[in-house]
Amino acid sequence: MPVMNLEAEASAPVITIDGPVGSGKGTVARLLAQRLGWHYLDSGLLYRAAGLAALRRGLPLSDGAAIAALLQTLPIRIEARGLEEPRVYLGEEELGDALRMESVGQAASQVAALPEVRAALVDAQRAFRRPPGLIADGRDMGTVIFPDAGLKVFLTASAEARAIRRHKQLKEKGISVTLSRLLHEIRERDERDQSRPVAPLKAADDAWFLDSTAWSAEEVAEAIHAEARRRGLV
Ligand code: C5P
Repeated sequence: MPVMNLEAEASAPVITIDGPVGSGKGTVARLLAQRLGWHYLDSGLLYRAAGLAALRRGLPLSDGAAIAALLQTLPIRIEARGLEEPRVYLGEEELGDALRMESVGQAASQVAALPEVRAALVDAQRAFRRPPGLIADGRDMGTVIFPDAGLKVFLTASAEARAIRRHKQLKEKGISVTLSRLLHEIRERDERDQSRPVAPLKAADDAWFLDSTAWSAEEVAEAIHAEARRRGLV
């Protein structure tokens, strides 16, 4: 019965986790999705894929119409694989580790400021909302994509703690970058993400704030889980 399925999808519970680079969103979101057996959306991957696609085609990172047109012919698709890293496809091509590079993060943040690019990616994100529930991480999950989410977490941490975390993550992936350069790039990206007119990084009015500077990912996941239980979401 397609209509009943659509209703179930539209009403599946959602927990959003928004915040700046390196706040721990991704790790915490994955842990929670694993604990609850819910779906997981890493929305940054879509913007990274759009940035990488534009770089490869030599499109100006300010040309929203051209990038949106490219994404129509080469749609981005994320294939979730349980606990493993999701696979990201541009058309038929799998994009792989290049997506994680900070240069691609910078390109992502530039194309993410373009309204045409954001509009082109809305449906792909909402399609992740399926029973039994969804954990979605990004910048505008609670403000724009899932405004009716039952719990909207805004996760922060000091810039230094965030740079150290990103440094460790990138090192584990064999990507080398100095800490001072990373701190500079993180600040630059956060500034751009916060100041753009469309869907800027900001807390929703009804956001639940957490500062993860002194906490492990497990502790943050436990705190969010407890809050979700308190609200009767899980
Ligand atoms: O989260 P991640 O670092 O992978 O995101 C890369 C970039 O994509 C961010 O700096 C931001 O500009 C953009 N983004 C966004 N909205 C989201 C997720 C990511 O604008 N929901």
